[in-house]
Amino acid sequence: MSERPTKAILRVLNGEPVWPLPIWIMRQAGRYLPEYRETRKQAGSFLDLCYTPRLAEEVTLQPIRRFGFDASILFSDILVIPHALGQDVRFVENEGPKLDPVTSEKDFSRLADELPLERLDPVFETLDRLKQSLPQETTLLGFCGAPWTVASYMIAGKGTPDQAPARLTAYRDPAFMDTLIDRLVRASTAYLIRQIDAGAEAVQIFESFGSALPPALFDRLSLNPIRRMVEGLKAARPQAKAIVFVRGGANLHRFASAGIGDAFALDWTLDPAVVLPTLPNTVATQGNLDPLALIAGGAPMEQGIDHILKSARGRPHIFNLGHGILPETPIAHVEQMIARVREA
Ligand code: CP3
Repeated sequence: MSERPTKAILRVLNGEPVWPLPIWIMRQAGRYLPEYRETRKQAGSFLDLCYTPRLAEEVTLQPIRRFGFDASILFSDILVIPHALGQDVRFVENEGPKLDPVTSEKDFSRLADELPLERLDPVFETLDRLKQSLPQETTLLGFCGAPWTVASYMIAGKGTPDQAPARLTAYRDPAFMDTLIDRLVRASTAYLIRQIDAGAEAVQIFESFGSALPPALFDRLSLNPIRRMVEGLKAARPQAKAIVFVRGGANLHRFASAGIGDAFALDWTLDPAVVLPTLPNTVATQGNLDPLALIAGGAPMEQGIDHILKSARGRPHIFNLGHGILPETPIAHVEQMIARVREA
């Protein structure tokens, strides 16, 4: 018998409406916070920050201390998976991630077949520490990237407009693409199971590049791989909850109608007043203020917040942004957003 959860986010993930809406924001630990920039400097490189449990714990806690969010998301990155598989990954200041591209079977054969989980021990230690240090009402979230999103970085070696190199690879060399996706499905499932064992209460899967996929590739590269991950996670740890964030409007319905995941995160292009009524009222959702409305503040931000609150009232919904918070976001606007959601 499972007990009914008491934490607001877990109640929503169980399909229960909670008011005021619980709130956290994607990329809530990051450069918009001066205390993050300070710890980041101490750590040296971005990966050192991810792999030093004391510092990763500290930056995970910073937005919780400052804003009292209802969820805390493990501080790490989706690219620790290719890194642990043996690909060279660097984060270059002001340029973003750089990887040695994997474009042939030969490059690929240098990577581990099974994820060497011990290489990610610092991540699991960070979760273990957070389990002790978080306020008891705060839900601890783990995460990973979806196979297609991670594969697109592994193939191009960097972020690319519309993920053209990976899409071309999917057409020209389907066998290679399927092998890569399969390896990422297995690695990511093992990684999520281990995160749950280390203390994560739910996980979010980031398909940030879902909007680049044409219908002919979508099921093969996004929907089915994520389905395998969620099913694998739940077969191993039935209590684990999964939030699926897939960029690209129509894609959310593909996941929702296939019943893949406990909650669906809406990107900022979707109108919650239109989308939420099309879902059963026990299906949890999350989102979806435009991160640029949060930067702008004032009326655009307030109207955006109010529209979400009005659309989500009475439903199991978690307030969030429609994508990650950007470094130039004023902290005062974050405070105003939280107050408006909590005083509604
Ligand atoms: O949400 C959180 O607070 C937890 C931490 C988190 C980070 N990255 C920290 C980070 C999470 C959940 C991610 C996910 C992630 N990483 C995604 C999916 C989500 C999304 O935003 O679409 C993607 C595509 C990545 C890959 C990645 N990591 C990029 C493209 C970049 C560079 C872009 C940038 O913002 O500079 C990173 C680096 C990164 N990951 C930073 C942080 C805080 C900034 C690096 C720094 O501090 O120097």
